[in-house]
Formats: sequence, C-alpha cells, structure tokens
Amino acid sequence: MLNSISLVALLWAISCAPFILAASREVNFECDEETDLNAGVGNLWRALGSPSRLSDFRLMPESPYFKVDKESNVRIRGRIDREDPVACPDAGETRPCVIELNAFSDNDRTVVRITIKDINDNAPVFKEPQKELIVEEGDTNFQCPLDAATDADIGDNGMLIKGHYFLIGVGGQFSLKQRHQQGALYLVLAKGAQALDYETAQQHLLNLTACDGGLNPNCTSQRLIVRVRDRNDNAPIVTPDAWPAVPDTLPVGGRVGKVTATDADSGENGRLTYSITGDRKSMEAFVINETTGEVRLHRRLNARSHLQYVIQVLVSDNGTPSRQTVTSFPLSVRDANDHAPNISILPMVQRLQQKGTPEATKNSGMVLVRENANTGASLAFIQVTDEDLEDNGRTTCQLGEPGAELFRLTSSGEKDYMLYSLQSLDYEAQTRTSVRIDCRDAGSPPQSQAKSCKSKLRM
Ligand SMILES: *[C@@H]1O[C@H](CO)[C@@H](O)[C@H](O)[C@H]1NC(C)=O
Ligand SMILES: *[C@@H]1O[C@H](CO)[C@@H](O)[C@H](O)[C@H]1NC(C)=O
Ligand SMILES: *[C@@H]1O[C@H](CO)[C@@H](O)[C@H](O)[C@H]1NC(C)=O
Ligand SMILES: *[C@@H]1O[C@H](CO)[C@@H](O)[C@H](O)[C@H]1NC(C)=O
Repeated sequence: MLNSISLVALLWAISCAPFILAASREVNFECDEETDLNAGVGNLWRALGSPSRLSDFRLMPESPYFKVDKESNVRIRGRIDREDPVACPDAGETRPCVIELNAFSDNDRTVVRITIKDINDNAPVFKEPQKELIVEEGDTNFQCPLDAATDADIGDNGMLIKGHYFLIGVGGQFSLKQRHQQGALYLVLAKGAQALDYETAQQHLLNLTACDGGLNPNCTSQRLIVRVRDRNDNAPIVTPDAWPAVPDTLPVGGRVGKVTATDADSGENGRLTYSITGDRKSMEAFVINETTGEVRLHRRLNARSHLQYVIQVLVSDNGTPSRQTVTSFPLSVRDANDHAPNISILPMVQRLQQKGTPEATKNSGMVLVRENANTGASLAFIQVTDEDLEDNGRTTCQLGEPGAELFRLTSSGEKDYMLYSLQSLDYEAQTRTSVRIDCRDAGSPPQSQAKSCKSKLRM
C-alpha cells in the first residue's frame, strides 16, 4: 500500500517535471489604451516564430483585460485605462504600463508582455475651478503665483513636455511668466501696460487656459479673479459751496452750513473726518460734526463786533498715512433787527431862582416848569440809541398825541433831539401835562419805543 502511494507520487513528479523545468519563452506586444473590445493585439504562435500552429493557448491566471482565441490571437477582453491604478499599478509619468500574462500551450509557458500605450484621453486639470489673486493698485512689479495644471496622460499628451498656458480676457493688461517649461507660473503686468487702478476697476476677470501637448490638445480653463487692493492714493475733494449769511439772532446749536466732501478711495482710505482749523474766532464760534460735516453755532454771534468769518475746514481721510484737504468757507453775519430804539430823556438843568424856566427833578422824564415860563423854553435833551446796524439802527422820533400841540421836538444830529415848550403853561388850566415821544428804526419790520415826558408846573 505504502509502495503504490509512492509510485503515484513519483509518476506525478516525472510528468510535471518538463513543465516546471521548461525554459519560458517571451513575447512582447503593445496596444493603445482604450482599444475596442475584441480588437487583436498580436498572434502568439506567429510571434514565437513557430512554423506550425501551436495548440490552444490558455492564460493562467485569466486576465480581465486580455483573452486568447482559438487562432492564438491575443484580443482585448476588457477596457484598459492606462491611468487606472488597478490596470496599471506601476505606470507613471515616465514608467510605461506593462501588463504581463502567462500563456500556456500544453505545458509550455510563454510570458506575454503587453505595453499599454498612452492616448490623449485626459484633459489638464486645475486644483480648483477658480482662483482669487490680490494685487495692490499702483504696483507694477507684482508677481502672483498661479496653479499648474496636471494631466494624467504622459509624454506629449501630458502637460510636462509640451503643455502650455495662455490667458483669455485680459485686454492686454496681464501676461504670464514662466522661466521654463516646468517652472513656476506667474501672473504679471503686461509690458507697457498701465498699473492697476482701484478707482478704475476693482477687479479683473480672466481665464487661465492650460492645453496639453497632444496632437488634438485637450484644454481646461481656470477662472482668475484679480482683486485690486485700494491704496490711499486719493485726497478728499471738497465741494465748493457758498453758505447764506446767518442772522446774528441764530441760537446756539443753529445750523450754519454743511461741508460736502468725497474721497475716491474705499474703506478707511475713503472714510472722512471733518474739523475746523485756522482762525481762533471761527473755532470758538462754530462746531463741525466730525462725521457729517455739518457746521452749527457754538456761541452767539454779534454783527456789531464781527460781520465776517472765514471758516477753514480740514477734511482728512482715515488712511495711513492720511490725506487731507483744507477748504475755506466765508460766512457773513447778517444783523437782525433785534433791538428797539432806546430813548433817554435828560431834563435840562435850570437854576430855580430864575423865573419862568423849567426845573429838573432827579426823576428821569419828569420836568418841572415854572408857571408863566417863557414860551420856547428847552425842557429836555433826548438821546436815542439802537444797538442794530444800518437801517435797523437808524431811528426817527416824533411827538405823539396827546399834548403834541404844546411841545416841539427838534433834531440836532441823528440821535439827539431837544424838547421845547410851545407856550407858557397856565397853572390854572393844568398843573400837569405830558407828551409821548415815539421813536422807530428803519428795519423791516421796524422796532419802536415810546416814552412819556411829564412836566409839572411849579409855583
Ligand atoms: C481629449 O482629446 C481627445 C482627442 O481630441 C478626445 O477624444 C477626448 O475626449 C478628450 N478628453 C477629454 C477628457 O476632454
Ligand atoms: C472663462 O471660463 C468660463 C468657464 O470656465 C467661461 O464661462 C467664460 O466665458 C470664460 N471667459 C472668457 C473670457 O473666456
Ligand atoms: C454727528 O451727526 C451724527 C449723524 O447725524 C450724529 O449721530 C452724531 O451724534 C453727531 N455728532 C455730534 C458730536 O453731534
Ligand atoms: C438804554 O440806555 C440806557 C442809558 O444808556 C441804559 O442804561 C439802558 O440799559 C438801555 N436800555 C436797553 C434796553 O438797552
């Protein structure tokens, strides 16, 4: 029993020996990736140089990509993608993809090496579909690194050897810089182009297109958004304005005018602050709202002391360094007719002993007149003042009823009057009489004051 088992083992060993020991033969084929199913790749027995047909070949193990038909033709069994890591685990940019098969005919082993050739079945790919770049305005030497595109294909079909880049939609303002085929790619300002200006365009849209080096190149675009960063290259511009004259009756806090300014820069570079500068009188009389530029009264105005101001306004932006503009706003103060005439009655001082002359009392406005005083005696000196200017301060006075017929008012100079009695006063008729003095100014509307001058007869 033991012997018969040994014999079987021996027979097996003998029959297998030629198979194991036979020198293996080699055949090399090549085919394009993505070749159609069933397409022939090569004929084994012809490739082996055998004069006669060899018996059927069998692939061991079976391949998902190739099969051998009855005529010993190697044919495509499944789709082969050179860039597929399952089909071509070792293939790379430079390493070819070779699929190795073992074909057995009877006990003879043939190693079949099939090189899978690259076709241009891939387009270049960018890391992201769009990329944002920031360039400071005015910078003519900017150099923005760009992403390289990669292409799964190799050789001419890829990007590395013959791939190239170009820009679309630049209007001659930008260009690409790449020192050599595989060097870093930069976006730069085109030769002779104007520096970027934020105030002209805040961003530029362009496409970076990568094309591989295939015979019919595949191309892909990446959208580039070039944002221009604002620099504080503009000073504030103040709109000239003539402010209407303000009346000197304007209350504290009243609105005087408003400074309007613009700045072409953005953000802090365009945020404006207003202040009053220069003349101390203006700085005391007015305040400006530092954010709105609105000027208001800080202290009551007085046309008598100050008819004209020049308000200097400093407008600064908030850039670093800040840019500033100073503008002068002349302002006239208009005298308002806010004062009435002020009448002072100054009785003429007469010696009491002298018969028939008026006698002053300490009481302003009260004139003592002796009975039978001479007609035409001067009773009082009258002074009129008005705080206002020009017409508002120009006064005229006259006597009002009743009693006007007993007196006369003469003017000696614009503000001075003299009051006379027209007849001797008769004690029996009246011991006391009075006359009203009316004064008004020439303002519109006018202001007026009236004062009575009383006279009393004295024995
Ligand atoms: C690349 O180009 C080839 C030939 O023009 C074309 O057949 C193929 O579909 C393209 N591939 C891609 C991914 O665009
Ligand atoms: C840039 O590419 C996008 C899509 O990738 C396309 O819609 C657009 O028209 C292109 N612009 C230019 C100027 O070519
Ligand atoms: C300036 O004006 C703004 C807007 O009217 C207001 O909110 C602010 O309080 C004012 N500032 C001053 C100091 O009055
Ligand atoms: C009127 O004038 C008198 C004398 O000059 C002065 O004392 C008085 O304050 C004045 N009155 C007004 C209202 O100005």
